[in-house]
Amino acid sequence: MTIQFFKNANIYTPVDKGNPAAGKNQGVLDHFENGALLVEDGIIIFAGNIGNIADNTEIMKKLESVDNTIDCFGQCMIPGFVDPHTHMCFADLRESEFEMRLQGTPYLEILKQGGGILSSVESVANTSEDALYFNTLKHVLSALKFGTTTLEIKSGYGLDEQNELKMLKVIDHVSRTTPLDIVATFLGAHAIPKIYKDDPDAFISLVADKMLPAVKAQGIATYCDVFCESSVFSIQQSKKVLEAALKLGFKVKIHADEVNDLGGAGLAAELCASSADHLLAASDQNIEKMASAGVVATLLPATAYSLRKPYARARFMIEKSLPVALATDCNPGSSYCESMPFVFGLAVLNMGMTPSESLTAATLNGAYAIGMASKVGSLEKGKQADFLLLEGNSPAILAYHAGVSPVTSVFKFGEQVA
Ligand code: NIG
Ligand code: FE
Repeated sequence: MTIQFFKNANIYTPVDKGNPAAGKNQGVLDHFENGALLVEDGIIIFAGNIGNIADNTEIMKKLESVDNTIDCFGQCMIPGFVDPHTHMCFADLRESEFEMRLQGTPYLEILKQGGGILSSVESVANTSEDALYFNTLKHVLSALKFGTTTLEIKSGYGLDEQNELKMLKVIDHVSRTTPLDIVATFLGAHAIPKIYKDDPDAFISLVADKMLPAVKAQGIATYCDVFCESSVFSIQQSKKVLEAALKLGFKVKIHADEVNDLGGAGLAAELCASSADHLLAASDQNIEKMASAGVVATLLPATAYSLRKPYARARFMIEKSLPVALATDCNPGSSYCESMPFVFGLAVLNMGMTPSESLTAATLNGAYAIGMASKVGSLEKGKQADFLLLEGNSPAILAYHAGVSPVTSVFKFGEQVA
């Protein structure tokens, strides 16, 4: 048994009340100015003001057998970031498409021309499992340096059974060889493969009837996701895949209303999805339906930034008591970004979220979006000691110190990992 004692920490943490934090609660944090964190075998046994330890006989006793005392010298301590939406498993960058977008070609037009996601599909098919592993690892370790300690990664650049399973194997390998907790999502319906161009319904049947059972048998993916969008997959096609996934015991989430308001947010509500992600074009009515159904809105401001689109309406969502999470969407097309501090800055300065709401979004609500909230997302008794130390006096530094990462150190299960 190892006991670690982190003292003199200026702790800010969301409070987990058993549900994602919504409405006014999204901005409510615990703040322990002279904070102490006591960790037994990687799990928090006390988080609070040092002054409150004296009344706690159990904790006083534990303090007698501390193995390591770590002085945080007044640094700001927050939970490790949870990034609940990434496509970090890819083979090649798509810099020439970025140039095309700068010159005015829309993102979905590049996909229609056979580029975009389909160009990543081609490079994944031509890349060995080992090479794909090292590429993915590079992005995951970069995210870790920026403070991400729990991460979701999607497949979706395979689009056939063999390559989708290959991607999930790589994600699993990265999960087993890095300190992060990684949740895998099957995104077989990410784009219409070239050979199904004239018969997308046949591809949807293949995903629902063949690929999903194979992914289930492989046992790596927990979630199933679809890209519900004009000229990609319709509401009916998305529903078919997600209903098949639910029947097999997957949890589900949706790329919803990223460019056009197709009603993906409403479908997420109907299926009680864990989250609906993007939502740049989501309607008022569907946002309200999501709130009633308990679906988390995972917002990806780095994608709006990179696509130069209007940001998702975070303020309206919070007013409607829809819990908001933040994620990078890290991928080689619409958002090449593994930095949660950058996303945090965009949320505060461009979406009007307060630093406190953004902290909840980047930690606890992200954990709910990927089914990890019982373990991570807040600094509370019983959760993993996954935390960050920051320069500055409050989480606002994450938006205030623009273009750099104020994260000075990263801890997973109480051990420094970056
Ligand atoms: O979330 N929109 C679909 N999927 C990703 C982009 C993937 C890509 O362009 O490679 C997204 O934006
Ligand atoms: Fe995405």
